[in-house]
Amino acid sequence: MNSIIKRIAGHFLIKGDVVDVDSHFNGLVNKTFLVRTQDANGYYDYIIQKINTYVFPNPHRLMENIVHVTRHIASKEEHNQTLHVIMSSEGKTLVEDASGCYRCYHYLENAHNYQQLQDLRQFKEVGRAIGIFQNHLQDFPVKLLYEVIPDFHNTPKRIKALKKAAKVGIKERIKETKNEIQNFLDKKSFLSRVQTALDQKEIPLRVTHNDTKLNNVMFDQLTNRALCLIDLDTVMPGSVLFDFGDALRVGASTKPEDDKEFKHIAFDITRFIAFSAGYLLQANEWLSDKEGDMLSESVYIITMECGMRFLTDYLLGDKYFLTRYPKHNLVRAKNQLSLANDIWQKLTVMQKIVKSLRTRFEEIVITKLGRDKENCNL
Ligand SMILES: Nc1ncnc2c1ncn2[C@@H]1O[C@H](COP(=O)(O)OP(=O)(O)O)[C@@H](O)[C@H]1O
Ligand SMILES: [Mg+2]
Repeated sequence: MNSIIKRIAGHFLIKGDVVDVDSHFNGLVNKTFLVRTQDANGYYDYIIQKINTYVFPNPHRLMENIVHVTRHIASKEEHNQTLHVIMSSEGKTLVEDASGCYRCYHYLENAHNYQQLQDLRQFKEVGRAIGIFQNHLQDFPVKLLYEVIPDFHNTPKRIKALKKAAKVGIKERIKETKNEIQNFLDKKSFLSRVQTALDQKEIPLRVTHNDTKLNNVMFDQLTNRALCLIDLDTVMPGSVLFDFGDALRVGASTKPEDDKEFKHIAFDITRFIAFSAGYLLQANEWLSDKEGDMLSESVYIITMECGMRFLTDYLLGDKYFLTRYPKHNLVRAKNQLSLANDIWQKLTVMQKIVKSLRTRFEEIVITKLGRDKENCNL
């Protein structure tokens, strides 16, 4: 593989000759290589990724999205911390040959990421990173973006898919999960609220990342503050509520997504506070009232949506998600249902927290504006 990467690297506009290829990087979707080159002036590092064209069948359109978004972020004053696409010598975003389809990025220096959440401060930084990302892109013409996975967070369509699976799926599995199917369908109208708000233009279409996991946030090695989001394959038009909700679904659960101890699965409110504070520090100014009001419920909706997807896949014979044992998808679905139930119990508290954070941050902005005005008068 390394000799292939060496050859591929030669097609990108990078400095020097390849002296080392390191493929130890974690990643579930694409294959990632750290490529070190050398010329008379020194060493340079680059990232080359082999794109998983099974998951992303249109890598060219996907790369157009990434180029649009990263250029827009880089154009923002003082903020050049972002992925930066390196073109091929033919002026293309991809190099393709019989072995696959490859892209190249600048290596983010003095940065690292984590697989496991360390503490609350770190989760606040995850919120801040998502806020910064959306902050830079809130004036981006979202219509330019291609919908990489159509209807990714269209919850009403996910409900329909579950209903269909409950008819045409594996008979024993349908019988076995009668209660779970009903639990999801009982909340049908509530679960459609984000999509309905989008359809009725009560909330705007914005740029969304759609994979706001901890390990897609790069941190500064020295300060341990969040630098930027990586893994931009699923950048698409959508609601910012998707990114907020999904980050909390994963990051604020007391148990992993496939833990079987359903009774012990809870939504950690202190993590919710930390994350929301980091996020709103960045997003409060431009977030609409309606979006602000819906932040908490989006966590519930996204969790239920994810649970429905696991259950649908279970009913249809585990075609989509990778499973390690026969009931893996069922465990995941029950896990998400337990988490969603706990979020449901805590919704009012969560809404109060968001409200008070938003008021507090507005006060800070007003005080700051007042101070700036005073300074101007001096
Ligand atoms: N530009 C970059 N600079 C430094 N490290 C990177 C860069 N891009 C990716 N990585 C590393 O490679 C890993 C996998 O990349 P990612 O784009 O998240 O792929 P996947 O879709 O497989 O998760 C990341 O978790 C990160 O450690
Ligand atoms: Mg990743």
